[in-house]
Amino acid sequence: MKISVIGTGYVGLVTGTCLAETGNEVLCVDIDENKVKKLQKGEVPIYEPHLDVLFERNIKANRLNFTTSLKEGLEHGDIIFLALPTPEDEDGSADLKYVLGVSDDIGKLIESYKVIVDKSTVPVGTADKVKEVISKNAKVDFDIVSNPEFLREGFAVDDFLKPERIVIGSSSERATELMMKLYKPFVRSGNPIIVMDEKSAELTKYAANAFLATKITFMNEIANFCEIVGADVDKVRAGMGTDSRIGKRFLFPGIGYGGSCFPKDVKALYKSGKDSNYDFGILNAVIKVNDFQKKILIPRIKAFFNNDLKGKTFAIWGLAFKPETDDIREAPALYIINELLQLGASIKAFDPEAMPNVKKEFGDKVEYTLNKDDATISADALIICTEWSMFRTPNFEKLRSNLKHPVIFDGRNLYDLEEIKSEGFYYSSIGRKTVEL
Ligand code: UDX
Repeated sequence: MKISVIGTGYVGLVTGTCLAETGNEVLCVDIDENKVKKLQKGEVPIYEPHLDVLFERNIKANRLNFTTSLKEGLEHGDIIFLALPTPEDEDGSADLKYVLGVSDDIGKLIESYKVIVDKSTVPVGTADKVKEVISKNAKVDFDIVSNPEFLREGFAVDDFLKPERIVIGSSSERATELMMKLYKPFVRSGNPIIVMDEKSAELTKYAANAFLATKITFMNEIANFCEIVGADVDKVRAGMGTDSRIGKRFLFPGIGYGGSCFPKDVKALYKSGKDSNYDFGILNAVIKVNDFQKKILIPRIKAFFNNDLKGKTFAIWGLAFKPETDDIREAPALYIINELLQLGASIKAFDPEAMPNVKKEFGDKVEYTLNKDDATISADALIICTEWSMFRTPNFEKLRSNLKHPVIFDGRNLYDLEEIKSEGFYYSSIGRKTVEL
């Protein structure tokens, strides 16, 4: 099939590449000339496991092409995916200026029947708005489909190629048939393609993300309470998670959820509720608890150093909002760094992928090291913000001799309490007893 993807951000690029992989002819459109030039040369602008291999293969096979011309894009594809940013507005709602702006152009430019597919996460009712905007100028038939993505960063290619489910919001049989044909190769395993109306599809995406954010947040509160009453959240998690109604996943407490989706989507759903005079009490609480959780290590660090962090140096392991990505959007590490710098401390940071992005934000206010060990040399304590695998089995002896004090604040519960005690560290983690020196 002939497919066009408008927007070559994270979602657009993964969507375009994976659709090319199943033999479709894909043309990706972006207004950013520099980016398109690089993509045409075969350079992948983001870090996402396996994407580079698929990307190269499909470019070589001439199934994946790039252009800055929306007109060309609209001529090429029978199905047009909109994978445009929906940034958070000042009031927390999703800003639709890109989606509606491109829709306006689509109305003016299309010359034959097209299925316009919304892949961006958009508030309920956006499909209707897009339809209205395109209808103003369109002289030919078109259909709007809402097809939310459920891609996890770090697993996006896998999630796209082997989805647990595909949600299609469509009220046109013609469009639904085309979408089923396009997605059939991805659900050979028998996983479902769930067809529904556009509004339900739009809400499905928000409901799924808000539920997961709530699940994590609930566990973060249980962890905080574990510390107060002297329970161990790892044990509580194991006890709860074995109930199949609860499930084992997404029960890991930490220093709050981050990333490009959860924070933005929870706020946007809360705001959508407000706009419809509905008060999502639970989401309001999730937002507040998560903001608190991101900084939960700060008072502990302050207390350990007698409220004086001036002149202290902290090693930070992990800057990305989660492992296997260079994405630092809403990453808890950034909040921690900001706070520590304001308190007069210095930071030596290491992350296997995200340092260039942090440098763009913090410049030379943070020292970046070549490896994890260098970050700890002469630091007063180590703070762990992201659970990269490489941090799970450090050489504790080296760590002890590098650090000025054998002190670890772990926002991701990487180490076993008994082991860390026998290694002679002060160790503060989330929802577990503090190991004292
Ligand atoms: C998420 C959804 O999983 C995906 O379906 C959606 O399309 C986009 O948003 P992503 O943002 O890539 O994907 O990350 P995910 O792995 O879901 O983690 C989100 C955040 O939750 C991270 O900050 C992570 O550290 C945190 N998290 C996750 C926890 O704190 N505990 C957990 O148990 C799981």
